[in-house]
Amino acid sequence: MIYRTQANLNDVSCDTVRRFTAAFAEAKGHRPGVYVRTFGCQQNEADSERYVGMAEALGYEWVPEPEQADLILYNTCAVREHAELKALSLTGQLKHLKAQNPNRILAICGCMVAQEHRLNDIKNRYPYVDFLFGTGSPEKFPAYLARALTKKGRGFYPDLSYGITEGLPIRRESRFKAWVSIMYGCNNFCTYCVVPYVRGRERSREREAILDEIRALVADGCREITLLGQNVNSYGKGLYEDYGFAELLLDICRIEGDYWIRFMTSHPKDASHKLIDVIAAHSGDDCRPKIVKQFHLPLQSGSDRILKTMNRHYDSASYLSLIEYMKKAIPDIALSTDIIVGFPTETEAEFEDTLRMLETVRYDAFFSFIYSIRRGTPAESMEQVPEDIKRARFARLLETQNRISREKNEDYLGKTERVLVEGRSKTDPNMLTGRNEKNRLVHFVGEDALIGCFASVRILAADTYCLTGELVR
Ligand code: 5AD
Ligand code: SF4
Repeated sequence: MIYRTQANLNDVSCDTVRRFTAAFAEAKGHRPGVYVRTFGCQQNEADSERYVGMAEALGYEWVPEPEQADLILYNTCAVREHAELKALSLTGQLKHLKAQNPNRILAICGCMVAQEHRLNDIKNRYPYVDFLFGTGSPEKFPAYLARALTKKGRGFYPDLSYGITEGLPIRRESRFKAWVSIMYGCNNFCTYCVVPYVRGRERSREREAILDEIRALVADGCREITLLGQNVNSYGKGLYEDYGFAELLLDICRIEGDYWIRFMTSHPKDASHKLIDVIAAHSGDDCRPKIVKQFHLPLQSGSDRILKTMNRHYDSASYLSLIEYMKKAIPDIALSTDIIVGFPTETEAEFEDTLRMLETVRYDAFFSFIYSIRRGTPAESMEQVPEDIKRARFARLLETQNRISREKNEDYLGKTERVLVEGRSKTDPNMLTGRNEKNRLVHFVGEDALIGCFASVRILAADTYCLTGELVR
């Protein structure tokens, strides 16, 4: 049984935090600052927006730099060791911020904290961190904060009971792009992956809560909604009899407006023909809203033996038959994927099976990862591939996909693309940057008034990672 609760920001803990922030503002002439840094995936980004939302509702104000903050929160990722080491090293750097201002509250949350060994690591190595909490109960954040503010000692909360809380306040980073979680957790237990251990079992939000949230976003002028879940294709399982992700998409498409619908991530074993048919029917250029013609379908490996060892429940033939169905139903669909190289026991020939799959599918883009040992997962005790071999395979993989991505990007030359303009380019402030429905990055010269709007851009140049063009008036 999943526990479902409604946010309550009027309890005793919340009163405690509000009293603190009011007294602070009275004394200093401004509200205390909250800074949140997010590591990892979009789900974490979405969670962070809720932590900032709760802090704001309790009297804090968001600040862009940790030095300006009276409450610093790091929302961590555990999916690969690299992300963990980065978060730990940055946690080390918090020491001087605490020394500068001992009243500053430091907290670490997220997937790393949900692992006992990491929780103990942080607890022992970073004594100046005030409290730690996992991912299961975000609604308890005000209670943890209240305890830290009243100096009742450090708090350690792995939060391993996983429920769903609706109605938490939220401060979205963008006013025109929004993450909407439709489900949490994962039941798949791929043998390399830590997610089911740190995010709990799969559970879906009730459809009315999701549809209400989207209605409000659309009424506010939101231009892009990304539906989030570890495996959106199993939306509704355990909650509804005959209502799944395809039906949810159909209901969302009834909320009229000029916006794009994206979703991630899908599992190949659960992506259905029905879902692909819904996308095909609602991705025409005149659809408002429009489901984007882009599908992220993690392959992980092209070798059937490795897929079996990974516990993925599909093989290369069934994966390809799904891709074939998609390409037939939506001929100009853009495909992307996740690949892991150097999974334990992977041979050279098996790695080459993956390269062959890249050539066969011809993905528009991919995310590739060197296998990283995760404590407590089955793959931890399998025979590991030496580091130098993993790196050499990774380089070959990148070379292959970069060539394909460049070739696919060159197909855009001379075409006019509808682009959702996101802001100024970080590398060249003369340029605006945005993405087309296929998630290709597009740079062009234009004025700030276009930020947050759709613009038509004729593509004049293409390289591996982005397109450059000119505004079509
Ligand atoms: N090592 C490397 N990559 C991993 N991923 C998940 N676990 C690991 C791991 N232990 C990758 C998968 C997944 C993506 C989000 O992260 O490719 O799809
Ligand atoms: Fe991890 Fe597999 Fe679940 Fe994705 S489907 S989160 S890779 S266990």
